[in-house]
Amino acid sequence: MSKLNVDISDKPYDIWIKKGLQNEVANFLSSNTSNPKVLIVTDEYFSSGYAQELSNKLTDTGFDTDIYVMPGGKISKTFNEVLKLYGLLETKDYARDSTIIAVGGGVVGDLAGFVASTWYRGMNLVHMPTTLMGMVDSSVGGKVAINFRDTINAVGNYYHPIANFMDLDFITTLPDRDYISGLAEVVKCGLIADTELLDFLSNNSESILNKDQQHLVHCIKRSLEIKIDHVKGDIKESGKRLLLNYGHTIGHAIEMATQTDKHELLRHGEGVALGISAVLELGEKHLNFSETKSDYARDILTKLKLPVSLQSYDLELESSELIKKVMKLMHKDKKRKANQIRFVLLDELGSADTYSGIDNSIIQKACEKVIL
Ligand SMILES: NC(=O)c1ccc[n+]([C@@H]2O[C@H](COP(=O)([O-])OP(=O)(O)OC[C@H]3O[C@@H](n4cnc5c(N)ncnc54)[C@H](O)[C@@H]3O)[C@@H](O)[C@H]2O)c1
Repeated sequence: MSKLNVDISDKPYDIWIKKGLQNEVANFLSSNTSNPKVLIVTDEYFSSGYAQELSNKLTDTGFDTDIYVMPGGKISKTFNEVLKLYGLLETKDYARDSTIIAVGGGVVGDLAGFVASTWYRGMNLVHMPTTLMGMVDSSVGGKVAINFRDTINAVGNYYHPIANFMDLDFITTLPDRDYISGLAEVVKCGLIADTELLDFLSNNSESILNKDQQHLVHCIKRSLEIKIDHVKGDIKESGKRLLLNYGHTIGHAIEMATQTDKHELLRHGEGVALGISAVLELGEKHLNFSETKSDYARDILTKLKLPVSLQSYDLELESSELIKKVMKLMHKDKKRKANQIRFVLLDELGSADTYSGIDNSIIQKACEKVIL
């Protein structure tokens, strides 16, 4: 079993990485919490199987548990779900020292984390990420949020769990598309901070796609180390943490522009991969970043079956309209400064910085390169 200590907030905690972790969760809660009430928040995929097993295990250990099941996918990260959860917490008399366990991907983790952070100004939160995206990114760093209308993660908070259990058994059932989506964040970590990780991804793409456990654990641990290093000392994102948004400014805009009320056309990681592809182009134009190095980065994305361009036609969208929408959304990006869009660009492979004041026409060209 791998264990990582996270000391980015005033309350350090551990991340467990292993196959089969239900006993560890029960033992941890027995020794670290005083209130027996535990709410397991999960999505439909885990409602009857894993969530029920975990609940039984906790009940056997003396806990009083409830399970809240939400529909899967990003369209559930809404106020409506938050209100339903608040209703359950009130009706069932949950207190500040009760615990919420988030069993699910980034959607469940972000939503349950937001609820835990606000109910009585903060309950115990335990993350059990079930997607690769959750393991390498969303469950660590403390960002919890819900979407508001068309704006992704518009309402949020910074809130850390008391423990994080990454059960590798979850990866075996994860659909390929969701698994690959998580790999986008691993590539991002390599691009901004670690050329060795990039070479590792490039040389082992096949076994990583086949979910080889040893290679997978290396990807998870290295991404977490890079994330923790960037978040430490900059929780609220005024300096180094911003670099973790590499590919996200354009990526989020593409993700939002293609999302409808009922459907998510792109996974978060697919948006990030497209965003990376676009900012590589931006770097070439704005900083004279080497085309060969950009090609190497795009090649890694392609080897991992991540998209580097988007055929708007396949989404039944007009490319010029989509680009217009993406440009508009980027100007609303929450990390803009003095009304200028702020981009993270690579100075080198493995090294990044933030840039603003980039000419709109260059940004537009970068989008045109990716949105076809
Ligand atoms: N808080 C952060 O720092 C942060 C970082 C990155 C992403 N995010 C957020 O994360 C969300 C995306 O998360 P995600 O990519 O994990 O998607 P997700 O949570 O929507 O999960 C994707 C799908 O996979 C299913 N699923 C989950 N685990 C499974 C498993 N083990 N086996 C089979 N099916 C499984 C879910 O039911 C869902 O339908 C976005 O809302 C994004 O904004 C947050």
